[in-house]
Amino acid sequence: MKIGVVGLGYVGLVTAGVLSYQGYDVVGMDILKNKIEMLKNRKLPIYEPGLSEIIFSDKSKIDFTDSYEDLKDRDIVFIAVPTPTINNKIDLSYVINASKSIASVNKDAILVIRSTVIPGTARKIMELTGLNVISNPEFAREGSAVYDTLHPDRVVVGGKNAEIVADIWKFTNAPMIITTNEIAELIKYASNSFLAVKISFINEFAKLCEKIPGCDIEVVAKGIGLDKRIGESFLKAGLGFGGSCLPKDTRAIVSFAESLGVELKVVKAAIEINDMRIKDAMEIVRETATNKDVCVLGVAFKENTDDIRESRALLLIKELIKNGYNVSYYDPVVKLEIENAHRYDTAEECIKNHENIVIATEWPIFKEYEKLLENKVVIDLRRVLDPRKIRIYRGVGLGPKS
Ligand code: UGA
Repeated sequence: MKIGVVGLGYVGLVTAGVLSYQGYDVVGMDILKNKIEMLKNRKLPIYEPGLSEIIFSDKSKIDFTDSYEDLKDRDIVFIAVPTPTINNKIDLSYVINASKSIASVNKDAILVIRSTVIPGTARKIMELTGLNVISNPEFAREGSAVYDTLHPDRVVVGGKNAEIVADIWKFTNAPMIITTNEIAELIKYASNSFLAVKISFINEFAKLCEKIPGCDIEVVAKGIGLDKRIGESFLKAGLGFGGSCLPKDTRAIVSFAESLGVELKVVKAAIEINDMRIKDAMEIVRETATNKDVCVLGVAFKENTDDIRESRALLLIKELIKNGYNVSYYDPVVKLEIENAHRYDTAEECIKNHENIVIATEWPIFKEYEKLLENKVVIDLRRVLDPRKIRIYRGVGLGPKS
């Protein structure tokens, strides 16, 4: 079975890497020539743990191209191009253009939509291209995408002859949902919406905890998460959800539902709470920092990634600057230069030169600086550190001392 993957971002590269590592003959295609150039030189255009090892392994049979022509002999072509939102509505132009281009070189290909698309998209692409279109949403998280793709909780495939694509993922031994295109498409949105709701739920209770003497949201989260009906994951209070998926997908499904006359009130509330988190964080900084010089640790939207799309940490840095703070920052992988802020190459330097330290991304490595931080004023917006180890500590979801 010959496989093609169109769109070599986080989703496409991981899909291509994992399938080639499983022994499939894979061609990865992207319209960006410099990306293809890098990949041909065995360099990854993104940071994703474990990806380099599988994609450039001798075991992997993978080639890269910037031409649709090279997909003409592929039996199955996965589409993993962006589906951004414009004015809160999904923009399907990349998916449509890629699908048409594939159809123009290969009339027999089975198209597999891996991108997150609103219900009805696969059907529309089928009408536009005449190809068989199967929906196969991915559920991998950036930062652990290789692991998640090798060991998914479930595989969802929808459409006519969906079994062909289900077979490809059989090696994962994950439960399979074989269904219609529309249901597969909706499962993806319902999943990401539910995750967003969990995060906003815990953040709302974190705010409440901050008003109750002796309260700690971390213990509350553990206490509720141990109930199997609720589950422990995605109950980490913090700065809110960012990244390229949860913010855009929640907005897209709300507006899609609205177009059908349905109001998704719970999802809307999750978005609203999330939008308030930067303001909440600013209030904590204002109340706690001893002066207007701060060192912010973390720029990435989450740990183990170089991705800054809709990063809450980056939003916070910008808001601090806007409010007259002198901001220095450090991130283990993001090397972005931010206007009117100073970037440090090491966390040690950033910490040593400042009294006020703000933790904005949940990088586990920040725990290793606990000793350096013990006499600083630490504002831990991701609850990375042990409050008992720091002299002046203010954490999200931590009430006043009782
Ligand atoms: C998310 C979903 O988790 C994946 O299942 C899905 O495949 C992916 O979107 C997608 O649609 O492609 P991702 O955006 O990579 O994955 O990252 P998450 O781990 O979901 O984190 C999203 C944001 O929520 C981050 O800013 C993170 O810091 C925040 N978060 C996460 C919390 O604040 N608390 C938590 O308990 C968990």
